[in-house]
Amino acid sequence: MPQNDKQTLTHRASRFATTHIQYQSAPLFLMRQQLATILETARNAAPTILSRAEFETFKAGIAGPNGSLTAAMKSMASVPKDERPAVGKLLNQTKSEIEKIFANTLARIEQNEIAARLGAPIDPSLEPPDVAVGSIHPLTQTREEIAAVFHKLGFTIADGPEIETEWYCFDALNTPPDHPARDMQDTFFFPPATRCPDAPKHATEAYLLRSHTSSVQIREMLRRPPPLRIIAPGRCFRRDTADATHSANFHQIEGLWIDENVSLRDLKCVLDFFAREMFGTNAQIRLRPSFFPFTEPSFEMDIKSPNLGRLSDRWLEIMGCGLVDPNVLKNTGHDPTRWTGLAFGMGIERIAMLRYGIDDIRHFYANDLRFLRQFA
Ligand code: DAH
Repeated sequence: MPQNDKQTLTHRASRFATTHIQYQSAPLFLMRQQLATILETARNAAPTILSRAEFETFKAGIAGPNGSLTAAMKSMASVPKDERPAVGKLLNQTKSEIEKIFANTLARIEQNEIAARLGAPIDPSLEPPDVAVGSIHPLTQTREEIAAVFHKLGFTIADGPEIETEWYCFDALNTPPDHPARDMQDTFFFPPATRCPDAPKHATEAYLLRSHTSSVQIREMLRRPPPLRIIAPGRCFRRDTADATHSANFHQIEGLWIDENVSLRDLKCVLDFFAREMFGTNAQIRLRPSFFPFTEPSFEMDIKSPNLGRLSDRWLEIMGCGLVDPNVLKNTGHDPTRWTGLAFGMGIERIAMLRYGIDDIRHFYANDLRFLRQFA
């Protein structure tokens, strides 16, 4: 007999002979159907679930107290004893399948939540968008450029206090008590009891907001011996009413060079170099005799440059300068027969206004982005 026929026969015989067992298997059969339905329903519903709330309802419908799988598990009680291992095995398989569906669904919801929080996907290979980044304020840019020019000539940066004493700001700089700059109308003085440990006093003089950075000359000369070559950028304060060319708070850069045999020729060379670096190689300078208490002789320096737009080819005053007055050297303990010096002082605002054609000093302090972005 061919093998196949033999098998068929055996099979038929066993079916015929086991009618009783088939009857016994009904719970298994029904359970298999019931569980298959639960599983299929879960598999179909899972992809449509989008939120945690929907997920909780979905889960309760299967595994909650009134859930379909819970009901199937309860029906174990009515399964005949000898069927229980097979039915139990089936239940456990289904349960673990369902748990996988729950876990996957929840993981997908969590992924979506994270993605929603992160926003649209980014492409790191794209060019950055054209957003405005911060930029350096034009006064800071100008200050740094001026400092870079003097750095080439060996000047280093010195710093001094903005709250200064009358002695450093005026007396030591050979400025007599009746000088107009010392008037209450021109300078901000502090009440007599004011204490300011950052700016040690010479004696019992008053504190004030420094009206120029020339006070740093004195502090530097007292701090270290010559030769010295410094510039001192910083804020100054005067009792000015704000208008297009005046501000109660403005910025200066002071310069000082003390050595043996510093001459007027050195002054002209330093300032000529500065003018060419800042205003173009074809810029010219002119020194006009003037007066400052701390220099002798004293000058106003003018520049003329073809690179200044509507201000081109006109003489424009940009700073005060001169040779350090012997009294200033004496006041700081230097022998004026040995030491000589040159000094100069300029307003940073004025230099920036000339270079960029700015017609109102108040633009620097208004924080108007339309103005500031032009220097970005
Ligand atoms: N301190 C002066 C001012 O504020 C500027 C100045 C003039 C500084 C001549 C100097 C100088 O060092 O030599 O107007």
